[in-house]
Amino acid sequence: MFTKPIVVIGSINMDLVARTPRIPLAGQTLTGTDFATTPGGKGANQAVAAARLGAHVQMIGAVGNDVFGEALLSNLASAAVDTRAVARVPGPSGVAQIQVADNGQNSIVVVPGANGAVTSELIRQHTKLIQAAGIVLLQLEIPLDTVLAACELCAAAQVPVILDPAPAASLPETIWPQLAWFTPNETELGLYSGNGFPPETAAKQLLARGVHGVALKRGAEGVYIATSAGESSWIPAFHVEAIDTVAAGDCFNGAFAVSLLEGTSPTDAARFASAAAAISVTRRGAQASMPARAEVDAFLAAQS
Ligand code: ATP
Ligand code: RIB
Repeated sequence: MFTKPIVVIGSINMDLVARTPRIPLAGQTLTGTDFATTPGGKGANQAVAAARLGAHVQMIGAVGNDVFGEALLSNLASAAVDTRAVARVPGPSGVAQIQVADNGQNSIVVVPGANGAVTSELIRQHTKLIQAAGIVLLQLEIPLDTVLAACELCAAAQVPVILDPAPAASLPETIWPQLAWFTPNETELGLYSGNGFPPETAAKQLLARGVHGVALKRGAEGVYIATSAGESSWIPAFHVEAIDTVAAGDCFNGAFAVSLLEGTSPTDAARFASAAAAISVTRRGAQASMPARAEVDAFLAAQS
């Protein structure tokens, strides 16, 4: 069904996840209840999400020459993500220290490690692969210069880019017309559009800068999408029992890309992606929580 691959340019981390009664305050020590070492990183999570849903996915990134690097590569490969453009570099792989509280809240510290080696030069080396993509997925856990170089390249080749601005960082004005979709969560949106604006107002502001579509992710509330072509809709989140929301946004982006690439309308693609993300929050882990295509189809069929 997919004629062109999805190319993900982004981070690959090992997540060190502690379950804890609540997020500790500064200076506080808490006794956790559980610990897991599990593959993550926003780029790799989005790649696995899309591959589990049936897309042909190529990952451009970097891991270290440590044991985590080996495990991260093999996990991507077992999800059928093409890792031939993932560099193996000296030094540690990216890691994320994550605390997940009993109420579902989380806090994350990312140490980029090898993700710092995802340079503009690496993008240049994979120019042809990027130019042949159906959609390119980007986030902000790799150097900003690399993200900007990738956006330039995609704009010139007319390859649609979905940028997840996570973690939030200042972006140059030149980037907006190069983006097909911009997908901040509620916190990130505050940096790009005034805090406290309703999503409709924030979306109008962002579209006025030249981006073609926005998906404003609002956790358990749902997602608001709007396009420069005049389509807009609010898709409420599906009711599920959430136990771990880490990477819900990544699952949304991977699934959104798959559905858009299949030619689905933005509203229906966002509904498909919301269903995938709803399933993911009922499971622990980042990549481990990404649903298969049949699960999302069955979940959606059960809603109607
Ligand atoms: P993360 O940073 O943890 O990857 P995010 O903050 O980027 O996630 P969210 O806004 O938390 O993204 O979630 C993305 C989408 O996932 C939401 O728009 C919604 O569709 C779905 N989702 C998130 N939390 C829940 C929940 N508790 N129940 C159902 N769906 C959810
Ligand atoms: O979006 C979730 C991801 O953020 C985690 O997997 C972690 O690696 C951090 O990058």
